Amino acid sequence: MITLRKHLLPSVLALVLLSTSACTPGTPSGSQSDSPSDSPSSAAASTAKPTKSAIPSASVPQVEPVSAVDARTVLAAFKSRNMVGHMQALQRVADANGGNRASGTSGYEESARYVEEQLRAAGYAPVRQTFTFRGDGRGKARVESFNILADTGGDAGHTVVVGAHLDSVQEGPGINDNGSGVAAVLETARWMKEAGIKPANRVRFAFWGGEEDGLYGSQHYVDELSQAEIGQTAANLNVDMAASPNGVRSVHDGDGTDFGHAGPAGSKAIEDILFRYFQENALPAETTPFDGGSDYDAFLSAGIPGGGLFTGDEKRKSQAQARSFGGVAGKVLDPCYHEACDTIANTNPELLQEMSGALAYATVAYAMAKTG
Ligand code: PHE
Ligand code: ZN
Ligand code: ZN
Repeated sequence: MITLRKHLLPSVLALVLLSTSACTPGTPSGSQSDSPSDSPSSAAASTAKPTKSAIPSASVPQVEPVSAVDARTVLAAFKSRNMVGHMQALQRVADANGGNRASGTSGYEESARYVEEQLRAAGYAPVRQTFTFRGDGRGKARVESFNILADTGGDAGHTVVVGAHLDSVQEGPGINDNGSGVAAVLETARWMKEAGIKPANRVRFAFWGGEEDGLYGSQHYVDELSQAEIGQTAANLNVDMAASPNGVRSVHDGDGTDFGHAGPAGSKAIEDILFRYFQENALPAETTPFDGGSDYDAFLSAGIPGGGLFTGDEKRKSQAQARSFGGVAGKVLDPCYHEACDTIANTNPELLQEMSGALAYATVAYAMAKTG
């Protein structure tokens, strides 16, 4: 009896879990997410903390992202795309340039040329936006660097900026951090052209420099925006690490319900649309806080809604995370974070495909968003 129970209970649980995910309702394209309680984040957050946003929302247009494409179709498309090829290319760049791709180095320049070639081949016209910063840990020398920006067509009055930092630390090749994010943004840009998606709202793909030295590239971009242009920036979607070898699927906690740091109004919609993709694909996902540690920071501070994807850095995987996502509990999510061993071997290609599909899904949702 006892042994029977012991064996029955897990299988009953597994059945319940399986049927829950299998019953996830399919949603016709063009429909809206019905309720926030859909999202696994709300399910995970048993005690909702009060939202405290120190950030006033600027006169940013409120747009309503729409599910213009089927989430399962997007995942299937990204499961057959060569995400790893981009990381391999960046690995070769690092190998040929002293082992890193830090801003101001030849490795960064070659990384940029690779991204620009890819964008041009897909029909975009990338431009460089230059800036300088004083590099700590570089003898305080002035470093010249640049962002790469590439736009789709569509209404510039409701621009969505979809970005990832292109630079690595000086200590290593930066393939998970952030070759993986670069691959996700590049492949989203390429897939949108191939799928023949014609954005109603402009998408601006951004590859930031100077992130590892202090978030300089994205800060420069936001500093250069006029008040009017800030008001015409509907959202920032960011990817900083999407292939952590012992990783998790996480989405920024836009409404602050899980960690208490909300982004500007509109950040919840980003969280929701990303969760919708994971839910419709029966892929577990969780929230991660805005900790001021990536390129969304300048956008949030300017009152622009922000959010995005993250698969983990130097934190250890919890038991609960290992149950949800597999991998090894007690082991670091990315054991080579900011180290020389952050090579192509330090990546999870399947996770990258899943996360990139999420980015593509959310990007199209903003590209096709209803505007008020
Ligand atoms: N998220 C950054 C990275 O690419 C590091 C960082 C952490 C930057 C905290 C600023 C503040 O690793
Ligand atoms: Zn880093
Ligand atoms: Zn990073």
